[in-house]
Amino acid sequence: MIAQADFFEVLYPRREIGVSHYPMPSLPVADKSLKSLDFLNQRPKPNNGMLLYLHIPFCETFCSFCPYNKIKIDLAKVKKYLLSLTKELTWYSQTQYVAQSTIDAVYFGGGTPSLLTSNELRDLLQTIKAHFRLSAALEITVEGNASSFNEEKLTMLKNEGVNRISLGIQTFNDRIGIPLNLPHSSAQAIEIIQKIKKLHFPNLSIDLMYNLPGQSMDAWKKDIEQAVFLNIDHITLFHLVVVPTTALFRKVQNRELFVQDLHNELMMFHEGARNLILNGYQQQSTYDFGLPGKFHIYAVKHFVEKYDLLGLGMGSFGEINRKTYINSGNFAEYVDSVENNQLPIHLQNEVVADEDIHAQFSMGLRFLEVDFSGFKEEASRRFFKVFQRLLKKDLIVISNEKIALTQKGKLWGNNICKEFYSDEYKLSIPGWQRMEELAKK
Ligand SMILES: C[S@@+](CC[C@H](N)C(=O)[O-])C[C@H]1O[C@@H](n2cnc3c(N)ncnc32)[C@H](O)[C@@H]1O
Ligand code: SF4
Repeated sequence: MIAQADFFEVLYPRREIGVSHYPMPSLPVADKSLKSLDFLNQRPKPNNGMLLYLHIPFCETFCSFCPYNKIKIDLAKVKKYLLSLTKELTWYSQTQYVAQSTIDAVYFGGGTPSLLTSNELRDLLQTIKAHFRLSAALEITVEGNASSFNEEKLTMLKNEGVNRISLGIQTFNDRIGIPLNLPHSSAQAIEIIQKIKKLHFPNLSIDLMYNLPGQSMDAWKKDIEQAVFLNIDHITLFHLVVVPTTALFRKVQNRELFVQDLHNELMMFHEGARNLILNGYQQQSTYDFGLPGKFHIYAVKHFVEKYDLLGLGMGSFGEINRKTYINSGNFAEYVDSVENNQLPIHLQNEVVADEDIHAQFSMGLRFLEVDFSGFKEEASRRFFKVFQRLLKKDLIVISNEKIALTQKGKLWGNNICKEFYSDEYKLSIPGWQRMEELAKK
C-alpha cells in the first residue's frame, strides 16, 4: 500500500501533453511537385490498413485556452478550403500504395467539423467512399461541439455511415465555461447529447477538462457525475495546458484568471479516473476512459498498431510508407499550394528503422502497456537505464511479455512516454535541451 503523500509526489515539473506522433518530421521540403508522390507508386504489404485524417480548421468563436490550428469561419474560405481538401485527397487516392490499402478509420478533426453544412459533410463522406477502399468495419468519427450539431445534420451523418461522434464539452458548468468563451452552454450540451443518444450512434465520446480556473474538486466531480448519468460511451479527460499563444495565457498573466497548481491537477485526475472506474468505465489510455467494448479504434490503431496515416488539410500530420510529413498550417499557403498543383507539405522525413523501437514505446505506452515479447532483448539493452529509473519510482511494472504503467505511472503517463525518445530525435526538437535544463532546476 503506497502512502497518499508518496502517491501524489510531484515527480516531474509538469504533466506533459501526450505524444501524438513519433517521430515528427523536421526537414524542409525541396520538391513539392506531384512527382514526389512517386514513393507511393508501389504495392503496400498485403492487407495494409490505413487511417484517414481530415482537418477542418473552422471555429465560430475561439475558446480562450485553445492552441489548435484553427481560423474563424468564413463562407468563402470554407468553399476554397473544401475544394483544396478534395483535390489533395484525390492525388493520394490515385497512388498504387493508397489504392491498394484499406482504410479502417476516418477522423474529421478540427477546429470544428460540425460547423460544415449537411451538404458539405455529405459531399466529403461521399468523396471518401468514391476514392478509397474501405474496411467493412470502418469507424468514422466526426468531431464538433454542441452549438453546431443539430438533429438534421446528425441524422444525415448517421445515414452516411458515421458511427462515432466526439463532442468538445469541457465542462457542464456555465460558471466555469463562460469565462473560457466556450461556444455552448451546459443546457445545449445536454440537449445535443440526448439527441445523439436518441439516434443510437454506436459510440459517443466527450472531452472534459480539469484543473480549469475556478473549478473546485466538487465542481469537477459533478462534471464526471453528469457524464456518467448521461451514459456517455467514451470520455477523454484533458488537463488544462496554458499555452503562451492563447488568450487564456494573457488573462493569467494579467491576473484576470488564476490557474491551479500541479498537485491539484494530480488529485483531480485521480478523482475523475476513480469515479469513472467505480461507474463501470475502464481506463484505456493516459486520457481515455470507455465503457466495456467502447474504444476509439482510430487511436488504438494509430498509437498501438502504428498504422499508416494519411493526413489531409492544413497543419495535418501523416506517416505513410515510412515517410512522415506535416502540411503547412497556414490557410493561404495551404490553399495556394494545392491550387498550384503543389503538395502543401511543410516538413518531412524518412522514418529510419532505428527509431521504430522508440516509437513503439513512446506512442504505445499512451495505451498503458507495451507487449515487447518480440523485441525484449533489444528493448532491455536500449532502455536499461530508463527501465531502472521508472521501476525505482514505481511508475512501471515489467513482466515476461510486457511493460505496463502502474497506478502511479498512470498519473505521469505522458511524461513516461517521452522518456523513450531517442537521443537523435531529442536533438532534432528545437529547444529540447533548454527545456531539459529548465526541468532540472
Ligand atoms: C482539437 S480540439 C477540437 C474539439 C472541438 N472543436 C470542440 O471544441 O468542440 C480537441 C480537444 O482538445 C482539448 N483542448 C483544447 N485546448 C486545450 C488546452 N489548452 N489544454 C488541454 N486541453 C485542450 C479540448 O478538450 C478539446 O475538445
Ligand atoms: S476547443 Fe474546439 S471550438 Fe474551442 S477554439 Fe479549439 S477547436 Fe475551436
